[in-house]
Amino acid sequence: MSRTQDLIDAAAAVREHAHAPYSGFKVGAAVLSTGGTIHRGCNVENAAYPEGTCAEAGAIAAMIAAGDDAIAEVAVIADSPLPVSPCGGCRQKLAEFSAPDIVVTLATTDGKVLHTTVGELLPGVFSQDYMERS
Ligand code: THU
Repeated sequence: MSRTQDLIDAAAAVREHAHAPYSGFKVGAAVLSTGGTIHRGCNVENAAYPEGTCAEAGAIAAMIAAGDDAIAEVAVIADSPLPVSPCGGCRQKLAEFSAPDIVVTLATTDGKVLHTTVGELLPGVFSQDYMERS
C-alpha cells in the first residue's frame, strides 16, 4: 500500500464522521506531517452556516494540536462527480504549512483521483514574506 493510498484511505475513513446535515456533502481530509504522522479532519457544519468548518481545516488543526507543524502530503475526498476541489480559504490554510511542491491528492469516493500541488492550487499565495517591512 502506498503512502498516498494510505492518506486517501484515512481521509475516506474520517469522512464518515463529517457533520454535514445542511449541505449533505461530507468531506474527509488527511495530512501527513513531515514527522510522519497522519492527521485527519472532516467538515463540521453549523446551523449558523458561516460557523461551519472544512475538512482540511480540521486536519490542519489536528496536526497543530498534536505538535507537528509542517505538511508532507495531503489527500481530500468527497462523493463528488470530479475530484473535490479545496475552497480558496483551505488553499491558503494548506499553504501556511506546506512548500509549494507538496502533493495534494483530490479524490472521489468512486475512485477518481487527481494529483496536484499546493503551489498549483494557490499561485501567488500571500505569505509572511510580504510582511517583512512590518
Ligand atoms: N468543504 C470542505 O470541507 N472542504 C472543501 O475544500 C470544500 C467544501 C465542505 C464545507 C461544507 O461543509 C460542504 O463542504 C459544502 O460546501
